[in-house]
Amino acid sequence: MLLHNIEELRKQRKEWQGLKVGLVPTMGALHEGHLSLIKKAKETCDRVVVSVFVNPIQFGPSEDFDKYPRTLDKDMELCNKEGVDIVFAPSPKEMYGEGSRLSNDTLTYVCPPFFYVNKLCGKTRTGHFDGVCTVVLKLFNIVQPDYAFFGQKDAQQVVIVKKMVKDLNVPVEIIQCPIVREESGLALSSRNKYLSEEGKKDALVLSGILNNIKACYNRGITDIKSLKETAYSFLTEKQDLEYLEILDRDTLEEQESADDNSIALIACRVEGVRLIDNIYLKG
Ligand code: PAF
Repeated sequence: MLLHNIEELRKQRKEWQGLKVGLVPTMGALHEGHLSLIKKAKETCDRVVVSVFVNPIQFGPSEDFDKYPRTLDKDMELCNKEGVDIVFAPSPKEMYGEGSRLSNDTLTYVCPPFFYVNKLCGKTRTGHFDGVCTVVLKLFNIVQPDYAFFGQKDAQQVVIVKKMVKDLNVPVEIIQCPIVREESGLALSSRNKYLSEEGKKDALVLSGILNNIKACYNRGITDIKSLKETAYSFLTEKQDLEYLEILDRDTLEEQESADDNSIALIACRVEGVRLIDNIYLKG
């Protein structure tokens, strides 16, 4: 069932009293990565809602909000095939009201702590995680799920959403699901659609670097500077590196040396497309 309206969603939700409800929040352009979240939600819950909303307030002024792929018919087809109960696809007006200037002058925002935001993607995407947390909390309030499913690909997002849920006592359990990759190793992303075939090959350097760091760690190298340095030799002029970090996977804290709880995270531009990827050094 496709719903665009918050009231209709709430009405339906009332009929699910006593059932376990799962939410998979997405911006649409669904791919196998999203489908893995939906499958996990179907396994875990009695009813599953997938939200499809390209959230304007998490995009910066020079980012790809206008050209972000919007493929609702195809998304509906995929969701129906997976047995999703409701696809919730509100308009920006439905979510944020008419005439709202979509800024924190006029709208209540959820602002996650600076410590979690002032690094990795948050460093260059000012306000991005305020926009993410605001829309995710709104979706939690609208759908009132027992479980919500997020991909490890957006590792910083998952850590920040978990922190928000804990700090604000939101009654939902966050389930993190593994990254889904193409056979080549490229992590699936809706933004891969922007890449040429050549660009997709150049993008393999991201997973190549991460796998190499993991292999070096598992051979006994724990010095973070050395682990990062091995990566730089993989880069060519085709990849514009934004960051490469090795941090604690749960807290995103810097570590003295890598350990079994470390995560390596990378962001690069390839053909102007911003790509991110990450890997746990153990497990
Ligand atoms: O990961 C995404 O697709 C988005 O950031 C999310 C969680 C759906 C919020 O708009």
